Amino acid sequence: MSARRGRFITLEGVEGAGKSTAMAFVRDWFVDHGREVVCTREPGGTPLAEELRGLLKAPREEPMAPATELLLMFAARAQHVEQVIRPALAAGKVVICDRFTDSTRAYQGAGRGLSMTTIDRLAAVAHAGCDPELTFWLDVPVALGLERAARREAADRFEQETLAFFERVRGGFQALAERETARFRRVDATRALNEVRNQIEIELEVAHGD
Ligand code: TMP
Repeated sequence: MSARRGRFITLEGVEGAGKSTAMAFVRDWFVDHGREVVCTREPGGTPLAEELRGLLKAPREEPMAPATELLLMFAARAQHVEQVIRPALAAGKVVICDRFTDSTRAYQGAGRGLSMTTIDRLAAVAHAGCDPELTFWLDVPVALGLERAARREAADRFEQETLAFFERVRGGFQALAERETARFRRVDATRALNEVRNQIEIELEVAHGD
């Protein structure tokens, strides 16, 4: 396999889908193949972007306008791409990111009803020429994902949303998977962990076993 080219892989899904566990599977595969790996997340990934994450996730009395949420997501992303993702890719590393612009399409686009054209324009401002080449969509029924997430921690501002919101988000991921067949891989995350790992490893062999 070519050891020098940077690789950009993302993981997506609703809360409780098991992205962190899947990220460890992807990381292990690349480490076993001798690659240097950077694992990171969005919103966040730099000190400034993590501050924006705190603002985005904290429940608050004042309702956050959808456009505010959208712009804060992209503000965090622009910082993260500039400080972490681009330099790592330029150094030939593998970047594995927990969420990226597909989450904006699913949550702010499908979930909040903001325009996909606007999202694509902001993506061009925040990370032109820096897009994931492979995206694992960890898919679980919304109720199961939310139940898993609720066992972990107190509900953040997003987790306080309605089931209907998360159904729209899941539908947003589904629509992306149907449109972006070359990049998206749906992983049925209701299955046993060893089956999830097997599928991820097979997809990586096919996509990156060069
Ligand atoms: P999590 O990744 O720890 O689940 O928390 C991030 C939350 O932010 C999650 O509810 C999804 C949401 N989010 C968006 O709404 N849009 C985005 O672009 C990103 C990256 C995350």
